[in-house]
Parts: sequence; structure tokens; C-alpha cells
Amino acid sequence: MKRTWWKEAVIYQIYPRSFMDSNGDGIGDLKGITSRLDYLKYLGIDVIWLSPVYQSPNDDNGYDISDYQAIMEEFGTMEDFDEMLDAAHKRGIRIVMDLVVNHTSDEHRWFMESRSGKDNPYRDYYIWREGKDAETPPNNWGSCFGGSAWQYDETTAMYYLHLFSKKQPDLNWDNPDVRKKVFDMMTWWCDKGIDGFRMDVISLISKTKEMPDGKINGFYGDYGPYCVHGPNVHRYLQEMNEKVLSKYDIMTVGETPGVTPGLAKQYAGEDTHELNMVFQFEHVDTAGKYGKWTDEKMPLKKLKDIMSRWQTELYGEAWNSLFWDNHDQPRAVSRFGDDRPQYRDAAAKMLATCLHMMQGTPYVYQGEELGMTNYPFQSPADFRDIESINAYREWCESGKAAHEDFWPCMLFISRDNARTPVQWDDSKNAGFTSGTPWIPVNPNYTEINAKAETADPDSVFHYYKKLIALRKQNPIIVYGKYEPLLKDSEELFVYTRILGGEKLFVACNFTDKEASLSLPEEFIGSDRLISNVENDYSRREIILKPYEAFALLKK
Ligand code: GLC
Ligand code: CA
Repeated sequence: MKRTWWKEAVIYQIYPRSFMDSNGDGIGDLKGITSRLDYLKYLGIDVIWLSPVYQSPNDDNGYDISDYQAIMEEFGTMEDFDEMLDAAHKRGIRIVMDLVVNHTSDEHRWFMESRSGKDNPYRDYYIWREGKDAETPPNNWGSCFGGSAWQYDETTAMYYLHLFSKKQPDLNWDNPDVRKKVFDMMTWWCDKGIDGFRMDVISLISKTKEMPDGKINGFYGDYGPYCVHGPNVHRYLQEMNEKVLSKYDIMTVGETPGVTPGLAKQYAGEDTHELNMVFQFEHVDTAGKYGKWTDEKMPLKKLKDIMSRWQTELYGEAWNSLFWDNHDQPRAVSRFGDDRPQYRDAAAKMLATCLHMMQGTPYVYQGEELGMTNYPFQSPADFRDIESINAYREWCESGKAAHEDFWPCMLFISRDNARTPVQWDDSKNAGFTSGTPWIPVNPNYTEINAKAETADPDSVFHYYKKLIALRKQNPIIVYGKYEPLLKDSEELFVYTRILGGEKLFVACNFTDKEASLSLPEEFIGSDRLISNVENDYSRREIILKPYEAFALLKK
């Protein structure tokens, strides 16, 4: 297995809108990020993944880009960007940009040209089709954010495809000019000195030419078989690799909805010349009665099966990205752990142990290192996220779901849970802004905040700091071979890692009850690397406390 810097790195995701506001307008910005780089350096992370900072009308908080080479005014200027990049590099922190090229904003110049006439040179930059008739779109596909995936456009009396909101028209990757423009833009950013790309829904860029109705799934037809891992996706990524990626010492991670371990070996194989790693979503997949909307925790056995399968199947062939949450997911401790005040701290540390001791590159989502929790939304009017707002409308206002049934699902799953401001201290607005925050601050900021946690050696923050440092000191944590133990346990997540003559033992109690464990003979007397409570690990029979986690290293 090749050893590389991005396999050894820990990545921290910044959602700029909610990270730190420097000028009191209630919106996080680039100067705000620069002002907190020392905090990130202290935490020990190596790379920042920056969610989109490009010019955007913000229909989907920056994931709808109207100019790839300009900075969103609310976030600052290109000078602010250069300053931030430089300040990060001075601290040895790399910056990976979000690359959103499955679609643009409908306010992007290419789209405005494209929609203006059938003969416009940009017409074929997007995906236009005739409707079945004046009222019926070309097919039954639904968009990820509700409604049809087709929008009728009066100027030319045709429909354009948008897998996300109607303000996010899909680019036509089969057009070589589109690919060239995208690759040139990427080259421009690489020449500026950025350190890589996180590629938004990159598994969706290639669509089949035939666009038949999909199987009805909820309200609309499923575009999956025709747009996910489409016919040319690997060819286009190889072309991107040849024309851009291979020329720089950068890292790439693909957001690849629908990916399986088999496909990941192609997208991110050691020798396939596409990407370095991918995000898989099986462990956060919640498909159920209301589509993705659920209020149920995934059973531990299922979670372990998924994580273990990825660990085992990619070993030596491709590289895992490890994450519990991001800006599209609820807060990890609320979802996989327990955010009741008496358990929150232990549960957050337990989840961190479980993930950071696995093989792959760990991602920390802003605030996760503080154990930030889901937000106590009071009413549907509290949501800012286009997906949550549309889903509520589609399910409840249409009468397809009762408010009482759907509401707990929104509380549990909504992306806005992750988007409330980072809690810096216990002053007004958690120190995020001196103005009015664009989205409310979680009221628990008086207890959960960076100032208190950096001052407390037993905090969740210091626990993350320690895990990150351990990964740097022990190659076994990065490269060791994974093996699951106690697969059938409904309480404990236990595994080992092996590298050369060393062996690592990791045990995590995912419940609010005590759980007993017989330590395998060979680990009795091993060194304790880390644990989230005090316990005696020198004995064979160990009773783990609620949400206890520990790791032992046998040399
Ligand atoms: C990705 C992003 C998400 C966005 C969507 C459309 O899934 O992570 O935030 O809404 O793509 O760009
Ligand atoms: Ca601001």
C-alpha cells in the first residue's frame, strides 16, 4: 500500500456561513476563518475542506454557483481568500475546495446564454428536452429537493434538467466544451495554490442519452439508474485526472451517492487514475416511509456491518473517508450517540474513538470536536434549508404525512441541525457574530463552547486533539489492517488493527447501559492508548460504562 500525506491527514470541514462572522452581518466569512486558524492548528488538523465560497445567489447556500472564479460577496473578496490561503499554509494547513460541477446556478452566465435561444453556442452546455406535451415534462423523474427534475422554460418552450433545485440546472458533461471549461477553471485554482477538491455529487455527472421514466419512489420516478454512475463517469474522471489532477500534489475526495465498495475501487482505486478517495453514504442512508426522513437510529449491528464491509473490502485497493456527519447530516452525537446532558460528553468521545481508530482519512465537521448537538427547532418556520422546507411542504402540506409523524423526522435528520453557528464562547450569540446570526445559535452554547472546552483538559475538544495526535504517532492507526470482533453484539463495536508486529484493540459501548466484555488473552496487559473514562483494562473481564470507549496497543 502506498503511503501518502492525504492518507495520514485529518480533515476539518468548514461550512463558511456558520463558522465565524468577522463584520457583524450575521454571516460567517473568510476573515472569520482566518481569525480562527490558530484554533484549528491547536486542534492538530492538517487540511480544511472549505464548503463553497464562490459567487452564488444562495438558493442552496453556495452549492448553486454563478461564478466559479469569484468569491461570494457576503464572504469577502479574492484578496481575503488569498490571505486566508496564505495564513493557512504558513501554519502547515492545506485547503481543499468544494468543486460543484454537476450543476451551476441558473444565474451563471453559461445558463443565461443557454436558455436565451436554441442556437446559442451555450445551448448544449445544459440538458434540454421537449416535454411530452405542453403540461407534461419529458419524464417522471423527481428532484432531490422535491418536485419534478424538469423545469419548463418559456423562452424556448423546452424543459431543462435539474437533479437538485430548479435554480441548479445540470451541466451537460457529454459536451467537450463543458469539460474543457471545467478543467480550465480547476487548473486556475490549482495554480493559485489550493490543495485539492471535494467533488460535489460527482457520481451524477454522466447521464444516459435515453431518459425513460423511472420507478416511482415516493412522489416521482427515480433517476438513479440513468444518472448515478452513468455511462461515462469514469471516462470523464480519468480525463480530469490526466488534464488537471495528475499535474499537482493535491488530494481529491468524491462525494459519490450510491457508491458501493466495488465501485469505490474504480473511483478511488490505488491505480485507476481517478480520485484519491470517496465518501460513501451507506451508514447514513435512511431510506424509509418518508424517503430520507426518519426518526430512527440505525441498529448497531447494521452500522457495524456497513463500516466493517468498507474497511475490509477497500483494504489495499482503495482508500476510505471516515465521517459521522457533515453539512448535509444531523449532528453525530445526536444521531449515533446520545445528546442527553448526562451522556453527551461520553457519547461524543466514544464516537470519535470508534471512527478515528479505523482505516481511512477522518473528517471532523465544524463543532463536532466540541460535541455540538442537534438544534431544538420549535416550528417549520425555523428552517432555512431548501431541502427541509420543500420536504415539509411536499409531505405535510400535501397531506401525505401527518405533522406529528413527520416533525420528529425533521428534528432528527434536517441538515439545518449541522448548520447552526459554531459555538465559540458563552457570550451573546456564542461569540459567532456581534449582529443577528442568519440561523439561530443552539441555546446550549452556554455549556458547549470552544472557550470552555479548550480550557478543560477533559473536554471533547481535548479528546479529539489527542486522537489526532495519536494518529500522527502511530502508523498502525493509519495503515493497520482492520478486523471486526463480536459482530453480533447489539451493544459493543469492537475491532482490532494489525500492522507488522503491533496490534490495536478498540472497544466502544454504543448504549446507555453497562456492557461486559472479555478482553482477548493477547491484549491483557497492553498499553492504554486512550479511553473516555477511568477503568481498569488490565483484567480479562471488563464492565464498560455507558458510552465508554477505549483503545489498547500491544507492541
Ligand atoms: C451535495 C452537497 C449538498 C448540496 C447538493 C447539491 O450533496 O453536499 O449540500 O445541496 O450536493 O449541490
Ligand atoms: Ca460576515
